[in-house]
Formats: sequence, C-alpha cells, structure tokens
Amino acid sequence: MARITASVYTSHVPAIGAALDLGKTQEPYWQPVFQGYEFGQQWLKDNKPDVIFLVYNDHATAFSLDMIPTFAIGTAAEYQPADEGWGPRPVPKVIGHPELSAHIAQSVIQQDFDLTIVNKMDVDHGLTVPLSLMCGQQDPVKGAWPCPVIPFAVNVVQYPVPSGRRCYNLGKAIAKAVASYDEDLNVQIWGTGGMSHQLQGPRAGLINKEFDNAFLDKLINDPDAAADISHIDYVREAGSEGIELVMWLIARGAMADAAGGAKPKAVRRFYHVPASNTAVGHLILENT
Ligand code: DHB
Ligand code: FE
Repeated sequence: MARITASVYTSHVPAIGAALDLGKTQEPYWQPVFQGYEFGQQWLKDNKPDVIFLVYNDHATAFSLDMIPTFAIGTAAEYQPADEGWGPRPVPKVIGHPELSAHIAQSVIQQDFDLTIVNKMDVDHGLTVPLSLMCGQQDPVKGAWPCPVIPFAVNVVQYPVPSGRRCYNLGKAIAKAVASYDEDLNVQIWGTGGMSHQLQGPRAGLINKEFDNAFLDKLINDPDAAADISHIDYVREAGSEGIELVMWLIARGAMADAAGGAKPKAVRRFYHVPASNTAVGHLILENT
C-alpha cells in the first residue's frame, strides 16, 4: 500500500526563484535563505519519495477571477512552468502521477470534499519555488525533479477561502486516500506558502515573527489548536497573504497523529526574515 512518510513545509517567495535563476544565491542578502535549505536538500536525497503531493496556491496564473476552484487536484501527466510576466522560470517541467491523482480524487470526493479535477494546467512560483528550494537548481532541459509531483491548488487569493479547520480535515482525507492506493509508494505531502506577509495596502511589508514562531510551535505540537486559528486572526496577525498558511494544515492533517497515530518527529525547523516581503519558514516532519 502507499503511505505518507513525511511532510515538508516551506514558503514560496517568487524572488527566491529569481535569485536562483539569476545566480544570486551567494549574495549576502540571499545566502542565509539558501543555507537554511541545505539540510532539507540533503534530507530529500536521503529520503527520496516516489511521489510528492504538493499543496500550493495558484496566483491568478492557471486560474483567474473567471474561475475560482477552492480545491483543485492536478491529474495530468505533466505540467509546464507558467509564464508569470517575465517568461516561464527556467526549470524542468513537472511530471505528474495521473493514476494516484485519479485515485485520490475518487477517494477524497467520496469522503465529501468536492475537488475540482484539472487535466491541464501550468504551475507558478507557488509550486516551482518549493521544488527549487528543496531540490536545488535543475537544468530546465537535461535536469529533472526527483520524482512525480501531484499539484494540489488551494484558493487563498480570493475570498471566500477555506478555513484552517477544513484544510486540516482535508489532510486527513488525503492520508486515507493514499493509504488505500494499492501500490507500495512512499508519498510525501508538502504544505507551502506563508509565513507572515502582506503585499498591498497601508500594512504592506508586515512581518510578525512572534505569530510565525507560535504557529510553528503549534503546527508541530498541537495541530488541532493551529486548525482553530480564524481567518481574521491570520489576516490581523500574519497579514493578508499570511492566509497562505492554511495550506500547511492540509499537509499537517495528513500526518499519522491526526488519525490517532504516533506524533511525528520534527527533523528540521528554519525561520528567516526577510526574503522579499515575506518571512520564510520551513519544517520537516517525519512519521515515526
Ligand atoms: C511575495 C510573496 C508571495 O507569497 C507571493 O505570492 C508574491 C510575492 C513577496 O514576498 O514579494
Ligand atoms: Fe504567494
């Protein structure tokens, strides 16, 4: 049977992708950010999954105000990096896993979460920056990401957005779906976006280290309490784009302890301020 072995959490700041693509990783501003992911890159090599289920948000790239799916699962065989205004990032295309995607869609919809099924879409920095941070730079043509990736897009851009509690419960349903897939696959689930940031209005530039660190503590030790954080608290404390953090709860809800199993082991915790307008947070939790 397939099983979720670990969850990875990381911010997805687009300027991080640009710093990588433009060879700026050793500049004093960026060096501490990339250094913070050296552990994770080695860990991913040592703990190579068969599939990554990557929870992220689209930033009006594949979707627009024309169409706003709350939860959308990619079921395609491959996904191209999107053109976000400066051309597509020079990174490899993303190879999907249509069979596991279709199975998860079937199981999760039967568990009463109505997913949108997406057979064709491009993926933006929300998905490619976490891959770059964890896998390092890859040649766009000769290189490849280490394994197939299932993109799972969550609407955190246009209200109404899903609650943290609903995301946490959705994670539980995804874990059940994976566990009922009849092939011996090692699956990681990644929750991305966050941490505190606000990109517009009078509070643009807001960063809240206290909130972020309390969120990391809760996510590790008391995810049920983290699932109780309300929209208004995210926006007030973590800024308008801090709401991206609800996506971390999907990954956390898929860990064994959320279904009564053993608590995960936190093997990595990293926090850095700032990267562009954003606080960068990163965790790795292993199921024991
Ligand atoms: C920034 C952060 C984001 O999450 C995003 O989607 C776009 C920009 C920033 O920090 O500039
Ligand atoms: Fe974002």
